[in-house]
Amino acid sequence: MITNLLEGKKGIIFGALNDKSIAWHVAEKAHAQGARLVLTNAPVAIRMGTIGDLAEKTGSEVISADATSMKDLDVLFRRTMEIFNGKIDFVLHSIGMSPNVRKGIPYAESSYENMLKTLDISALSFHRILQTAYKLDAISEWGSVIALTYVAAQRTLAGYNDMGDAKALLESIARSFGYIYGKERHVRVNTVSQSPTATTAGSGIAGFDSLVDFSDRMSPLGNADASDCADVCITLFSDLTRKITMQNIFNDGGFSSMGMSERAIEQYNKSFRECPDK
Ligand code: NAI
Repeated sequence: MITNLLEGKKGIIFGALNDKSIAWHVAEKAHAQGARLVLTNAPVAIRMGTIGDLAEKTGSEVISADATSMKDLDVLFRRTMEIFNGKIDFVLHSIGMSPNVRKGIPYAESSYENMLKTLDISALSFHRILQTAYKLDAISEWGSVIALTYVAAQRTLAGYNDMGDAKALLESIARSFGYIYGKERHVRVNTVSQSPTATTAGSGIAGFDSLVDFSDRMSPLGNADASDCADVCITLFSDLTRKITMQNIFNDGGFSSMGMSERAIEQYNKSFRECPDK
């Protein structure tokens, strides 16, 4: 058992809505590894969710911030540096929302007003966070910033809708800002591409349960869960990964490298046995 990997480190965790949230698991593990945390979420999520319980468990303060508001982000980073009495060592961006997905509007019929909101909340918010931190020089040298993403950035997965476009932009921002932040301040910026995971955001995707099953059958190691994702994030926040930056790291049991697996084809063939005419 590895202990104290984040001893003395301080971080901001965006996106813990409830105990299913991936950010929740990251916060719990970061705390267990010795980190001090500030937790943040949109005002409505703080009201509707259970972030207060996580704050109590981890001895953290909660600061409300809409990740699409430069003003909120400026206040969040300034206030966090006051609380920590210094700079921040790591940041987790665990934020996603698509009004098109939420309203069940198919991709080919996307409302552009909705699509702009998807991109702003799910991708540009990462640029906004990085820009705010960069301007305030809020992140320590060799600090680490992570955003969570999905393989729909590279491959088309039916039903993932405009979130695929948002994830492609998110991963591109990690590379573009990662270059600047690495060169100027030795700060790492990476994305972790996670298996489908049963959370509030995940379950909003059309046909989510089938996607989870398909993905599990396709992955030689099976799906990665939120706890597995948190382990990867802790490693990336730690000093053991100081030269990893501008990368998209697949935490998906091997799914992204697969074309077809025996377990998946077996299930697929069942439909022919059950419906021989088709
Ligand atoms: P979640 O629903 O628990 O977390 C999403 C968070 O985004 C919520 O806490 C929500 O309040 C926050 N958020 C939405 N709008 C915001 C705004 N304007 N300002 C600040 N925060 C805002 O779901 P989950 O699954 O933990 O999502 C976290 C991240 O992981 C997202 O980026 C998601 O796309 C990504 N991801 C999730 C997968 C899944 O299957 N659950 C798979 C791969 C990536």
